[in-house]
Amino acid sequence: MKILFLGDIVGKAGRDIIFHYLPIIKKEEKIDLTIANGENSAHGKGITRKIYDRFKEVGIDCVTLGNHAYSKKEIIEHVDECHDLVFPYNYANDLRKEPKILKVKGLSICICNILGTAFMAENAFDQYRAMDEILTKYKADLYFVDLHAEATAEKILFAHYYSDRLVAVCGTHTHVQTADERLINGCAYITDVGMNGVYDSIIGRDIEEMKAAMIKKEKTRFTVASGPSIFCGVIIEIDEKTKRAISIKRSQIRPHIDQNIV
Ligand SMILES: [Fe+2]
Ligand SMILES: [Fe+2]
Repeated sequence: MKILFLGDIVGKAGRDIIFHYLPIIKKEEKIDLTIANGENSAHGKGITRKIYDRFKEVGIDCVTLGNHAYSKKEIIEHVDECHDLVFPYNYANDLRKEPKILKVKGLSICICNILGTAFMAENAFDQYRAMDEILTKYKADLYFVDLHAEATAEKILFAHYYSDRLVAVCGTHTHVQTADERLINGCAYITDVGMNGVYDSIIGRDIEEMKAAMIKKEKTRFTVASGPSIFCGVIIEIDEKTKRAISIKRSQIRPHIDQNIV
């Protein structure tokens, strides 16, 4: 089984690069399951029903979120209708946020979205309590975790702690792809998958606005940048007999370097 997981999709530029490369990569790599992090897909913060529906139309099987899950309030009205939208399990509110269990090549795969707690402002409960609860409550052959967290060590520790029980731990949230993809006891791991969004930006935001906000302390709107985009994802292969990951490969396409797929 081959899984394609796409990192945080930021704004229209991020959506457009996904729409362009997704059919090509799915065909070339013979992908069985596509998962994408959509927490920044609507103007850089949150997701809307329309965007979720479009992701489903283009062949994304499951959309995970993150700390910006509820930034566009309208999605709250549609939580129960967006069956393949996975909210962070440990976000402390009363809305639906169970993981999604899909059947792929005869195996059930439980797709989870969990927030880290280091340097994160959201009201989230402990990620270990969250994962333990999921493993007890939701039975599946495979568990895939989008660990949406800031701190590298926090993500690495989580992966080592659960490596024998999970098939993949993929980090999101920092928007910068790390080069540490590896297998840990048959669990595919990467600290951060990276972003799908404007390449010349500050993690997807306009550079000049970020200078004004951070250096000159001016009030800005943190506008999403414009320009050519970078594509970031990972491809994970799972042995269906052993139910363990056998490879993880980064996919990165930069706009200024001709088709540079790592
Ligand atoms: Fe985030
Ligand atoms: Fe993000």
